[in-house]
Amino acid sequence: MSLLADARTLLQLARGHRAYGSHAERLQAFYGPQAAHYDAFRERLLHGREDLIHRLALPPGSRVIELGGGTARNLEYFGERLSSFARVEVVDLCPALLEQARRRCARWPGVAAVVEGDATTYRPAQPVDCVYFSYALTMIPDWRAAVDNALRMLRPGGLLGAVDFYAAPRAAREDFKRPDKLVRGFWPRWFRHDGVHLDPRHLPYLLERTEPMCCEQRRGPVPYLPGLRTPYFLYIGRKPAV
Ligand SMILES: C[S@@+](CC[C@H](N)C(=O)[O-])C[C@H]1O[C@@H](n2cnc3c(N)ncnc32)[C@H](O)[C@@H]1O
Repeated sequence: MSLLADARTLLQLARGHRAYGSHAERLQAFYGPQAAHYDAFRERLLHGREDLIHRLALPPGSRVIELGGGTARNLEYFGERLSSFARVEVVDLCPALLEQARRRCARWPGVAAVVEGDATTYRPAQPVDCVYFSYALTMIPDWRAAVDNALRMLRPGGLLGAVDFYAAPRAAREDFKRPDKLVRGFWPRWFRHDGVHLDPRHLPYLLERTEPMCCEQRRGPVPYLPGLRTPYFLYIGRKPAV
């Protein structure tokens, strides 16, 4: 971590997400200037990623896809398990982040592959054992299509994982944490400026489409905002057999 790198990232976050151009062009404009420092800053903002990866029970020989995988940072959390997998694909639309991902994935030749593609339409050559989203659902405009596409890629019984910022539904639900004003109002507005759309429908949709194995709502600190903790969820579900 360096203060200068953080300052560059913070400047880009303050500028926000462009309001014009295609989705891919907007991602490139947003991430291009901060791609080299992306990992160092997100280490302190995107909580629960390591935990998600550790909880994915995947035997050797597994086929795994991360949709919206950015710099492929999350592959490191698999540790020694990674080399035992048959294939791991990191799919993303942003060339600047994919360049970082390609450099990183050169460490696992024959296993890790980097693909420039859209999470809503990408199809692997054969069904896979696990697809996960790490802070990507909030950045994918048609996130339902991305979840549906992930389910199409999965073999029956395969795992769908997600970790992301959490927006509480208006009405309190038995299975979700009680919404407070900060969770309902402040955080969705705060993140929207950077093209990150917290949506109270994410978690219910995942619960509806898969058999839940793990569903947790948590909070984590935000760099340079002492005392504030942003809500996030961690979810793992199984694709139903039929
Ligand atoms: C906050 S970043 C998270 C990156 C990575 N998963 C991580 O945990 O560090 C969100 C990512 O989603 C990608 N993304 C957004 N929309 C996408 C889409 N339609 N298809 C593929 N990737 C997309 C962005 O380019 C970006 O890399």
